[in-house]
Amino acid sequence: AEDHFHEFVVEAKPVRRLCRTHTTITVNGQFPGPTLEVRNGDSIAVKVTNRAKYNITIHWHGLKQQRNPWADGPEYVTQCPIQPGATYTYRFTITDQEGTLWWHAHSRWLRATVYGALIIYPRLGSPYPFPMPKREVPLLLGEWFDRNPLDVQRLAAFTGGAPNVSDAYTINGQPGDLYRCSKQETIRIPVESGESLLLRVVNSALNQELFFTVANHQLTVVSADAAYTKPFTTRVIMLGPGQTTDVLVTANQPPARYYVAARAYQTAQNAPFDNTTTTAILEYKNAACSKNGKPLAPLLPRLPAYNDTATSTAFTAQLKSPSQVKVPTQIDENLYFIVGLGLNNCTVPNSPRCQGPNNTRFAASMNNVSFVFPRSTSLMQAAYSGVPGVFTTDFPPVPPVQFNYTGNVPRGLWSPRRGTKLYKLKYGANVQIVLQDTSIVTTEDHPMHLHGYHFYVIGSGFGNYNPRTDPAKFNLIDPPQRNTIGTPPGGWVAIRFKADNPGVWLMHCHLDAHLFLGLAMAFLVENGNGPLQSVIPPPADLPRC
Ligand code: C2O
Repeated sequence: AEDHFHEFVVEAKPVRRLCRTHTTITVNGQFPGPTLEVRNGDSIAVKVTNRAKYNITIHWHGLKQQRNPWADGPEYVTQCPIQPGATYTYRFTITDQEGTLWWHAHSRWLRATVYGALIIYPRLGSPYPFPMPKREVPLLLGEWFDRNPLDVQRLAAFTGGAPNVSDAYTINGQPGDLYRCSKQETIRIPVESGESLLLRVVNSALNQELFFTVANHQLTVVSADAAYTKPFTTRVIMLGPGQTTDVLVTANQPPARYYVAARAYQTAQNAPFDNTTTTAILEYKNAACSKNGKPLAPLLPRLPAYNDTATSTAFTAQLKSPSQVKVPTQIDENLYFIVGLGLNNCTVPNSPRCQGPNNTRFAASMNNVSFVFPRSTSLMQAAYSGVPGVFTTDFPPVPPVQFNYTGNVPRGLWSPRRGTKLYKLKYGANVQIVLQDTSIVTTEDHPMHLHGYHFYVIGSGFGNYNPRTDPAKFNLIDPPQRNTIGTPPGGWVAIRFKADNPGVWLMHCHLDAHLFLGLAMAFLVENGNGPLQSVIPPPADLPRC
């Protein structure tokens, strides 16, 4: 195993997109940021220096950070933010993970531009469980705002209404040639006839599920969220923000230029969204040219309609582990979390601060608790050193009242209660969580991400989860392992994991537009007799609040 050292300098740099130049927060002047390439078993130190004027943290999305929550990164959860002028070195080891992950800022909406790929190769000498591709290409799908993303967030926080949608989607930071002023910089993926490519696709968009496809080519899915899958072929894949999917593509089409494209999968009813398409170009060597010697226009793929839930559901349902896996069977914690939006009433009618539907302000919650992040310290530091008054451990294991989540939602549940509530898990407990979308305000797919763990996705369905009949349909043989899973719109998804990583671990919707409204909770996974004894001690340079 190797040791890697990287320096990340977070700084504002001019970035030109869609005909305008913006001062953008970057890492080492790059947007997207640098790709980290490591092997399973390697140790990594990333020294982050904050030269921007905003507080920031970096999260290593999907890394388990075994006994090492201090390197996880969500601000006020496992650390205080790195303040302007300060540095913090994230130190961690990759333990039994390989595939595609990514890193991103975990402070307000800075991850709109502060993100990059994290590629974990197998240990030296161990092959992929699929034919070795000729080339590998990370493709980070993103959202570009033609303004400062922090202003978009601030405005939404002020008005209480829906935030502005993005102005372009991007592939490796570039909108591609269907957008104004973007043709020259369109990402090109060169390929020779007969070669196979491994596309490592990441949805790093702030607020949007995305469909992804390559014109005229089959995609063979081999991995998702850095866990291998039983290979299957498909024309289109869907990724929620936070998710990654690796696909093999064979260049077996006539030599030409083909669009690689992504656009919205949108499930919220009547909500505005960015309905544009981002493209890169798969460019065959010796691509056919027109009579005057110019390359022919690339072929456009067919993408599903923005509201094609059937295609999205069918794709996700095909993901399986390659062989039988060890799913926990004796469940110690049977949890049922309802996730969704809510609305808070406004006291001042027609106020500019009440721009939600019918004079309200948007909120979001899990089990009717709208999560409030502390400010004075992080949850992890408070738990580790026993600082009282920062959080409570009464997060409800089930919804406050039973109701028809996909139909008549009682009015009382439209207005969530604010709180910093954690749920305590005993080290080693076998946990099942059923995540149920509510139809409060709208049915919607919520990409739910759990920090510090991989979990098995053992079942899902539409309508209300039925604890009497649905468990019979669970896949306890070869379910996929993931770190982020969509709650089907107006439906439910069931996950299981063993709570074998002590620390404070955030679980949240990876649509930042929902995270900042409170769609989050955190687990406190204790160890042994006392709290958190076997977590490694906090590093000396851990930032202070
Ligand atoms: Cu990728 Cu808490 O996030």
